[in-house]
Amino acid sequence: MKKRLAIFLSGRGSNFISIHKNILSGEISNAEIVLVFSNNKNAEGIVYAQNNDLPILIIDHKNFDDRKKFDRSIVDELSSYNIDLICLAGYMRIVSEIIIDSYVNKVINIHPSLLPSFKGMNAQQQAIDYGVRYSGCTVHFVDHGVDTGKIILQDVVEVNSDDDSSSLSEKILAREHILYCKAIDLFCNDKLVIAGDKVIVE
Ligand code: GRF
Repeated sequence: MKKRLAIFLSGRGSNFISIHKNILSGEISNAEIVLVFSNNKNAEGIVYAQNNDLPILIIDHKNFDDRKKFDRSIVDELSSYNIDLICLAGYMRIVSEIIIDSYVNKVINIHPSLLPSFKGMNAQQQAIDYGVRYSGCTVHFVDHGVDTGKIILQDVVEVNSDDDSSSLSEKILAREHILYCKAIDLFCNDKLVIAGDKVIVE
């Protein structure tokens, strides 16, 4: 049985598009996108989902007084889709325990730094400001913290003296598109084993 993926996004959606293309090409096997969810009806990624006839769910967080009620409504809506894996792909809301505890070790994210360095927003600018020589991207399981979950895969890029946040973001994004697809392929083919705080890639 193919693993049933839900993609969560809020904006551009280039990682989502890469995931979809890699499923179509067979680079990611044993997977299908059964839902594209966004809190933002104007997200560019939603236009791509529409053009590719992928099922879409929009729930605007602004209609809820708090995060937990918002996340509860997402979990309720998701229940009929039998989701095996939630892929956060530029999803700009913090995911609460309502989602995490309903999908234990089934929510993954890509972050544009070598975690545990530079968690949170503007990770590429944080890397430039710190003066690191290398940065990169990390695919990780999502836990109750922000960018603290178990690391699945990482890739490294060099930071040159003339890089700024925008050029570094571009370099990292090109790697993200490959790394995220690799991680999803591993998950969907049962190649990720969780051993305590670590993920072993078989
Ligand atoms: C990426 O840089 C990703 O690492 C971060 O948000 C950005 C999303 O970009 N979590 P896109 O929407 O996939 O183009």
